[in-house]
Amino acid sequence: MVDILIKYVHILSFMVVFTVLFMEMIFVKSQSAVSDLVRVRRYQNILLLFLGFTLLSGLIKLVTMGEHAAIYMKNGVFHLKVTLFLLITILTFIPYRFFRNISAEPAGAGSPQEVPVPRSVRLIVHIQMILLVLLPLLGVMMVRGIGYFG
Ligand code: HEM
Repeated sequence: MVDILIKYVHILSFMVVFTVLFMEMIFVKSQSAVSDLVRVRRYQNILLLFLGFTLLSGLIKLVTMGEHAAIYMKNGVFHLKVTLFLLITILTFIPYRFFRNISAEPAGAGSPQEVPVPRSVRLIVHIQMILLVLLPLLGVMMVRGIGYFG
């Protein structure tokens, strides 16, 4: 039963990560409303939290599966999945400064309603999304034993 729950948390966390990134894609445009960017800044914290839950549930599964875990250590697809996952997590930190400055802006009269978003920020969100949609496929493949090199 615990095993099922951990698997459930693993998949559910992925779903939240997907949803948050999807919302970021909608709000982060070449010109975005300041209020939307402040919202995305909050989403980034949720993103990191649920990336953490995904990692934690994955690690708990690995630790609790005993000697079966050794099979995954010899699976290239598993290593690819974890590497891409870490890349997504690292990429989250890159536009952090941009969003932090946005939230610091005063909301008084005369402050801009819309601000230009650097191309790099939009690119990062898109790259994260592309990498993320590959991960469930890699997850299912590795469970099937595809990528085993032992
Ligand atoms: C967003 C990132 C991730 C996604 C979308 C994802 C997806 C999946 C999927 C679809 C499964 C297969 C479930 C099944 O059919 O039984 C799975 C299982 C698993 N994942 Fe992940 N995963 C992610 C990140 C991670 C990370 C970072 C780790 C590293 C510790 C990890 C470790 C595992 C383990 C150990 C299993 C269990 C395999 C088994 O039950 O035999 N996952 N994952």
